[in-house]
Amino acid sequence: VDETYIMVKPDGVQRGLVGEIISRFEKKGFKLTGLKLFQCPQDLAEEHYKDLKGKSFFPKLIEYIVSGPVVCMAWEGVGVVAAARKLIGATNPLQAEPGTIRGDLAVQTGRNVVHGSDSPENGKREIGRLALLASFTLCDGYFSS
Ligand code: GTP
Ligand code: MG
Repeated sequence: VDETYIMVKPDGVQRGLVGEIISRFEKKGFKLTGLKLFQCPQDLAEEHYKDLKGKSFFPKLIEYIVSGPVVCMAWEGVGVVAAARKLIGATNPLQAEPGTIRGDLAVQTGRNVVHGSDSPENGKREIGRLALLASFTLCDGYFSS
């Protein structure tokens, strides 16, 4: 069965959009099979985005991903990888259609609230990588007040 890795990025968690984002996937009809709030370690962030390593924005991207806790999820369903990308919308939120997560909830490419795997192979790889991670950092106390 198809599976995809969805990650609510630090801005989405900080802005309180976790429920809204989960709700969109639930309402569409996909099945949540794994969920974890955790602080992404630097090396995992770099591995996750390794295809973008040469890009000028890469250091900023990694800094962003490790800037606060993320919500990592595995979702299952027929055609879920491509469908999730549609629900998420274009990388640049200003180009994302209204009705998509980024189109409705974000304005900046560098703060685009959510990640979704771009192929079934990467979906399996990304979920596997997360599952292998032995230790998760607890995320209590991250709101300053
Ligand atoms: P992900 O689901 O996060 O992988 O996004 P994507 O597949 O829509 O885009 P891509 O994989 O090409 O880029 C990964 C992430 O890098 C994007 O979601 C952005 O957060 C960031 N990014 C991509 N292009 C730019 C850019 O030109 N400037 C900045 N600041 N960030 C970028
Ligand atoms: Mg991508």
